[in-house]
Amino acid sequence: MYPSSVSAGSLRILFALLLSLSVCSELKVLVRLNDGQITAETLESDSERDIISVEFRHTDGTLITFLADFKRHVKILRALVLGEPERGQTQYQGLCFISRLEHGEIIPSEAMVRLRQKNPHVIRTAEEKRGLERMSMNMAVNLTLSWHLSSHIRSVCRDAQDFIYTREQDVKYWLQRGVESSIFKVFPQNVENVALPSCSTTTDPWQPCSCSYTLRLEWYPCMLKYCRGHGPSPYKCGIKSCSKAYRFDFYTSRKQLCMWDEES
Ligand SMILES: *[C@@H]1O[C@H](CO)[C@@H](O)[C@H](O)[C@H]1NC(C)=O
Repeated sequence: MYPSSVSAGSLRILFALLLSLSVCSELKVLVRLNDGQITAETLESDSERDIISVEFRHTDGTLITFLADFKRHVKILRALVLGEPERGQTQYQGLCFISRLEHGEIIPSEAMVRLRQKNPHVIRTAEEKRGLERMSMNMAVNLTLSWHLSSHIRSVCRDAQDFIYTREQDVKYWLQRGVESSIFKVFPQNVENVALPSCSTTTDPWQPCSCSYTLRLEWYPCMLKYCRGHGPSPYKCGIKSCSKAYRFDFYTSRKQLCMWDEES
């Protein structure tokens, strides 16, 4: 099923056979974005804390950060969207979306720390393009108390203060695992969500509306590849890369806070 030699064209990212025990690593890869532009993506991993983070900047200046916390079954997707101050918007707006990290969504951190690339000048595109996942973010997370869920939320979501969202179904899962319930809050309270217009069709900048934000994680190692050598069992010899898009729907108290959601 898999190529038997690591020199095969698709295996340009290899595992280093390190004798030392490395627990942290940083990998920089060049990635082609959806619009054809190239971005430098940084992948950091720490096998002791059991986390992986992926960060890159979009052509429009938006900084996208993904963090997987394997210990707590949490993934954080953060977008820092640049505003247009001349149009009365803030310098930038932070959005933080927290959801359950499913098993096998991304390679384990202990594999990630051993990942090296042969040629750092290669511009990469994901081998598998995964479809859009739509998430209805109907709960808010209290930043001060967020360490109950994951100690990384505080630093990653710092710039998103009032825009830290999660989903009811994920909250149920974490509560079952003993996470403190006081950190979650149904959001918005006392508002009929069904009646809420979408921000893209709302013209009044002060009207509450349902905002949506779509982002694509352009390139991340989603699976391990195994090769057959002379030994009896296959060994890890590379990764398969994926790209995946997420669409988040969430409440905003006024259309002005959903500046990217314009009818086009
Ligand atoms: C978050 O929790 C802290 C500590 O309980 C509380 O003081 C604060 O008001 C909460 N913030 C929000 C936005 O609910």
